[in-house]
Amino acid sequence: MDKNYKVAIIGCGGRGDKHALGFDADNRCKVTALVDIKREAAEKINKKYNFKANIYQDYREMLVREKVDIVAICLWTDLHLPVFMDCAQAGIKAALVEKPMAITWENSKKYRQIVEKTGCQLTFGHQRRFAEGNQLARKWIKQGKFGEITRMDMFSPHHILDCGTHTIDQALSFNQEKDVKWVLGAIDTRKIISIYDVKAETGAAGTMVFENDVNANIQLGLPDQEMWGGVRVEGTRGFIEVFWDGNYGKGKVYDDPQWEAPEVNTDDEIQMKKMISNAVDSLNNGKEPELSYKKALRAAEIIFAFYESVYRHKLIKLPLTEGIKNPFYTMLEQGQISYDEMDKMP
Ligand SMILES: NC(=O)c1ccc[n+]([C@@H]2O[C@H](COP(=O)([O-])OP(=O)(O)OC[C@H]3O[C@@H](n4cnc5c(N)ncnc54)[C@H](O)[C@@H]3O)[C@@H](O)[C@H]2O)c1
Repeated sequence: MDKNYKVAIIGCGGRGDKHALGFDADNRCKVTALVDIKREAAEKINKKYNFKANIYQDYREMLVREKVDIVAICLWTDLHLPVFMDCAQAGIKAALVEKPMAITWENSKKYRQIVEKTGCQLTFGHQRRFAEGNQLARKWIKQGKFGEITRMDMFSPHHILDCGTHTIDQALSFNQEKDVKWVLGAIDTRKIISIYDVKAETGAAGTMVFENDVNANIQLGLPDQEMWGGVRVEGTRGFIEVFWDGNYGKGKVYDDPQWEAPEVNTDDEIQMKKMISNAVDSLNNGKEPELSYKKALRAAEIIFAFYESVYRHKLIKLPLTEGIKNPFYTMLEQGQISYDEMDKMP
C-alpha cells in the first residue's frame, strides 16, 4: 500500500523512539520530519529506522516547511498543550500527544476547544489499553465472566499525574467508561518528587465511587502496596488482578475453580504499533480513537478532583467546577506543603 500519511515526530527522546517504532510498522505512514532541540537525538532516530526524514530543531519551522498530516508530540508535559495548539492551527489532521495532558486542569480542558475549532484528531499516550492482557480483561468483564463488577482496587507507582493517569485510565476502561461520582484523596509529602518537571507527592491514597456504584480505592507509591501498578477488579462471580502491562496476578472465577488466566504478551512494542494503527484507522473511518482526548480528559478530571479534595479537606463531586488549576501547586505556593527533599526524574 502507498504511504498515505506524512508524519513528524516532535521530541526524539525515549517516547519519540517508541512512536517512531509504531509509525515505522504502519505502511500507511511515512515519517518525513523529525524535530528535537538536540539535533543528535533526531539524527539517532533517523538512522535507527532509516527514515531519511528532514531534521529540524524548531517545530514551528518544520510546520512551515513540511506538509505533514500527523504529528507525534513526545515532549515534557508542560509543552504538550502549546505545541499541540500550534500544530492544530497549522492544519495537522491528527496529533498523538504523550500523557499526561497538562500540569493543570485549566489547561487540560483547553484541548477540547482547539479540537472543536480545528477538527484535528487528538489522542493521548495511554497505550497500555492495547496490551493483550488489558484487552482480554475488558472482554471478560464485558461478557460477565466475573459477574457484576462491585469494586476495584487501583495501584500505581508514585505521582498521580504522571503515573496514576495510566491506572485511572485502566480502571475507567475496565468499568466500561462509566463516570466517577465523587473523589476523596490524601497525599504523603514527606518527600516531593518532580517527574518531567511536574512536582507531586511521593505517596497517595484515596477513594472514588463510579456512577454504577462501583467503589474503588487507589494507592500510589505507598509502602506495603499489594500491586505496584494495575487494577484488581472484583465482581459477584470472581476477581482478577491486571497489572499495567496486562500481566495477570491473582484471579478466580468462583463457579469454575479450574479457570486460570492465560499467559499474555506484555511487549510494549505491540502496544505502540496498535496505538498508531488505531489512530490511523480513525483518521480513515472517522470513528472515535480508542485513546481519544475525551477519555484522557476523564482521567485528568479525576486526578485534579483528587488534588482538590486534598486541598479542601473535602469530598469532591464530579463534574469538576471551573477555576481549578493544580491544587498541589496551590498548596506548595501557599506553604501548606513543606518538604525537606525533592527527587527529580529524569
Ligand atoms: N505513555 C507512556 O507510557 C510514557 C512513558 C514515559 C514518559 N511518557 C511521557 O512522555 C513525555 C516525554 O517523555 P520522554 O521520556 O520521551 O522524555 P525525553 O527527555 O526522553 O525526550 C524529550 C525530548 O524532547 C526534546 N525537546 C525538549 N524541548 C523541545 C522542543 N521545544 N522542541 C523539540 N524538542 C524538544 C529533548 O531534547 C528530548 O530529546 C513526558 O510527558 C512523559 O510523561 C509517557
